[in-house]
Amino acid sequence: MKTSRLSTVDIIAMKHKRERIVALTAYDYTSAQMLDAAGIDIILVGDTLGMVVQGEETTLPVSLDDVLYHARMVMRGARRALVVADMPFMSYQVSTEDALRNAGRLMKEAHVGAVKIEGGADVAPLIERLVKIGIPVCGHLGFTPQSTHTLGGPRVQGRTVNDAVTLIADAQALASAGAFAIVLELVPASLAEEITQRVRVPTIGIGSGPACDGEIQVFHDLFGLYTDFQPRHTRRYLNVAQQLTAAAKQYREDVTTRTFPGPEQTIDLKPEVKEELREFLRRSSGAVKSIRAKGSRA
Ligand code: KIV
Repeated sequence: MKTSRLSTVDIIAMKHKRERIVALTAYDYTSAQMLDAAGIDIILVGDTLGMVVQGEETTLPVSLDDVLYHARMVMRGARRALVVADMPFMSYQVSTEDALRNAGRLMKEAHVGAVKIEGGADVAPLIERLVKIGIPVCGHLGFTPQSTHTLGGPRVQGRTVNDAVTLIADAQALASAGAFAIVLELVPASLAEEITQRVRVPTIGIGSGPACDGEIQVFHDLFGLYTDFQPRHTRRYLNVAQQLTAAAKQYREDVTTRTFPGPEQTIDLKPEVKEELREFLRRSSGAVKSIRAKGSRA
């Protein structure tokens, strides 16, 4: 079926038309369908799936096969949004060959429209190679969760002049290498604004203030599904975990008190058939045993 799916070219054009880009993560078919219906522009199959879906402490344990599995589901649910798949930890750091092969698998086997890679000027040559072979890349700067152990956890990056200048240079390197967008995570608002003005591709903020060209958030944070902690940069639009727990308690109560299933959920025999069956069973329980015996292998 033909779809009018957004491309990376459309996303870049949004910056120039000053249209804000709205991005959100998703990890399965039904969530992707809902986000698509809401008009979300970019759906990221983020490696945050390791934390909010798999229950890991960091994103590091996520494998390429995990991302492939979730990206396929999201692609089936989203018809309009550009779907971007995260390249997980160690899927692009070991060698360029490895990185090309793995990014290629995400494009060929999950049919996503782009991949995302964490890192600054150091990953620019890789981005250039990927873009040259036809794989669009989104960069990711600031707090890069795959480096959580070296960064000392989720901390705001670029607080000193030195670090801020390095971040600006990194963003320019990614844009020059051909990245179609750059996620800025936990970057001070005025620095994010500075970067946004200096690069020609869109910046997509998370915890980086309102001046970025777009915003991305994690599905489970925004809708209150993940309750282990709430990042300061998120806003709860729903409290699904609370509502679901309350609903599950009600279900438990209804089943234990036999008020569920009720008449609306129940299919029964026609009264005359029920009566006939009762009469038959009353009169001929011996015959029923012999029918069973015929059908059995014993
Ligand atoms: O993995 C992810 O969900 C991300 C977003 C937080 C940007 O990288």
